[in-house]
Amino acid sequence: MLEGFHAVKHALRFGGELLGIWTADPVELEALRQRLAPDLQIQAGVVDAAELKLVVPRAQVVAVAARPAQPDPDTVLAGPGHVVLLEDPRHLGNLGAAIRVAAAAGAAGVMTTGRQDPWHPDALRGSAGLHFALPVHHLRAVRTGERELVALDPAGDPMAPGELPAAAVLAFGTERDGLSDELLAAATRRIALPMSPGVSSLNLATAVAATLYALKLAAA
Ligand SMILES: C[S@@+](CC[C@H](N)C(=O)[O-])C[C@H]1O[C@@H](n2cnc3c(N)ncnc32)[C@H](O)[C@@H]1O
Repeated sequence: MLEGFHAVKHALRFGGELLGIWTADPVELEALRQRLAPDLQIQAGVVDAAELKLVVPRAQVVAVAARPAQPDPDTVLAGPGHVVLLEDPRHLGNLGAAIRVAAAAGAAGVMTTGRQDPWHPDALRGSAGLHFALPVHHLRAVRTGERELVALDPAGDPMAPGELPAAAVLAFGTERDGLSDELLAAATRRIALPMSPGVSSLNLATAVAATLYALKLAAA
C-alpha cells in the first residue's frame, strides 16, 4: 500500500505496477500532479473523505501496487556501486528513510535482515515510494558476494572515504544495540563517522545518509 502523493508519484515514475489509486479530492490531486509530477498520468478513483481517513488517516491519496520482482541479490552484489545492508532495523520509518537516501545517492541496492519486512506500508511511506527506484531485499542471512563488508560503527576507525572500495557492502546496525558481534567479526573494516565530543551515535537513517554522501562526494 502506498500512502500519500509522493509515494504514488515515485512508484509510477520508477515503473511500479499500480493496481488502483484512490483519492477523496481529485481537484487537489490534479493540482499536485501538475505542480510536482507533470511527467505522469494519474488516474484515481474518487472515494468518500471519511472512508479514506479510516484506511489512511494521514494521506489524501492511497494506492495499491504489486510488489515488484527483485533481481537476484547475487546479481546486485556482482554489479557496481555500494550496497547498503541494514542489520535488523526496528523502526519502519527509519528503514524507509534509509531506502530513500540510498536511492537518492545512487546506491546499488538495500538489503535488510531481521524481523521487519522492508516492503511494509510504513517503510514505503518513509521512503516516499523510492523502494521502486532500486532493488530492496529482505535476506535470511547476510550475503556479500565478492565484496568487502564494511561495518559502520561509532566505535570504529575514523572514516577516510577515499580509502574505501568503490563497491562495498556498507553495514549499519539496529537503532538501540548497533551491529551484532557476528557481523563485526565478519567485517574487513570498522569505520566511524566523526562526531562532536559527548555525542554517542547518529540516527540510523542519518548515518546511512552521511556515509553514502561522504563516499559519493569523495568519488566525484
Ligand atoms: C543509532 S545507531 C546505534 C547506536 C548503538 N548504541 C551503537 O553504539 O552502535 C544505528 C547505527 O547507525 C550507525 N551509526 C550511527 N552513528 C554512527 C557513527 N558516528 N559512525 C558510524 N556509524 C554510525 C551504526 O551502523 C549504528 O549501528
